[in-house]
Amino acid sequence: MAYNLLKGKKGIIFGALNDMSIAWKVAEKAHEEGAEFVLTNTPVAIRMGDISTLAEKTDSKVIPVDATNIEDLERLLKESMEALGGKIDFVLHSIGMSPNVRKGRTYDDLDYNYYAKTLDVSAMSFHKVLQVARKLDAINDWGSVVALSYVAAQRTLYGYNDMADAKSMLESIARSFGYIYGRDKKIRVNTVSQSPTVTTAGSGVKGIDSLIDFSERMSPLGNATAEECADYCITLFSDLTRKVTMQNLFHDGGFSNMGMSWRAIKQYNKSFEECDCDEKRD
Ligand SMILES: NC(=O)c1ccc[n+]([C@@H]2O[C@H](COP(=O)([O-])OP(=O)(O)OC[C@H]3O[C@@H](n4cnc5c(N)ncnc54)[C@H](O)[C@@H]3O)[C@@H](O)[C@H]2O)c1
Repeated sequence: MAYNLLKGKKGIIFGALNDMSIAWKVAEKAHEEGAEFVLTNTPVAIRMGDISTLAEKTDSKVIPVDATNIEDLERLLKESMEALGGKIDFVLHSIGMSPNVRKGRTYDDLDYNYYAKTLDVSAMSFHKVLQVARKLDAINDWGSVVALSYVAAQRTLYGYNDMADAKSMLESIARSFGYIYGRDKKIRVNTVSQSPTVTTAGSGVKGIDSLIDFSERMSPLGNATAEECADYCITLFSDLTRKVTMQNLFHDGGFSNMGMSWRAIKQYNKSFEECDCDEKRD
């Protein structure tokens, strides 16, 4: 059901690769809610992925951009304002990539050139988007910028590797830039920390299936899906959240505040099932 929450709003959505991408779901929902937007991804992702289908479906333009490249970002913002006929109201940063993860380099054997690339693509690009947008005065007052994060920024999770460092940096950028952008332009900057989700980037994480199963068992509400994440992002782009800024917002079914759950214990210690332990549920 649509509520017209983004009627009249203009946006830029980074990171829709295919119909599993979180950004893809956000674009579909933003379209349903009445927004107009530009889709962007790297030239190679545009070639390999399926973004033109999404562009057709949502009646939006695709602009190829490497989010680590300042000239590309300047071009993106200028062309987006031209295409949409005015300044931007919302931006989704849905970008992540680690060459160390891709090449199977463990955290105690990182390649430092890869490490720098991980941080540049997955975190510093967020700062670049914000800085370029601010210099071009491309975002309207009370606009909203959201980047996607993961709880590995706060907790160590096996296999997440140098992406954990990138997510910590991403969340810190949201706070530091959120102060400046909020103070000067009333623009809010937040990160949404999403449950593990089956996507192309997600599948790169070592042991992702077990991680998804574990957090499903640990979360009282279960893992949040990509569609549910999109719903949450829409509220953050809407006028209903105008005083929310500089936050890392957990969208994870409660996982981040759990220590141990009944469902996880049951799985961890199968023999527990054999005893009469109903009263031990709390
Ligand atoms: N899937 C999960 O389990 C999960 C959980 C929490 C957070 N996230 C985060 O959600 C975001 C989106 O990931 P996803 O799971 O939808 O996977 P995805 O693979 O669909 O999206 C990642 C996107 O990043 C883009 N990208 C990579 N390098 C880029 C660059 N230099 N410039 C511009 N774009 C670039 C890719 O082309 C791709 O579209 C990422 O930040 C990811 O870390 C994912």
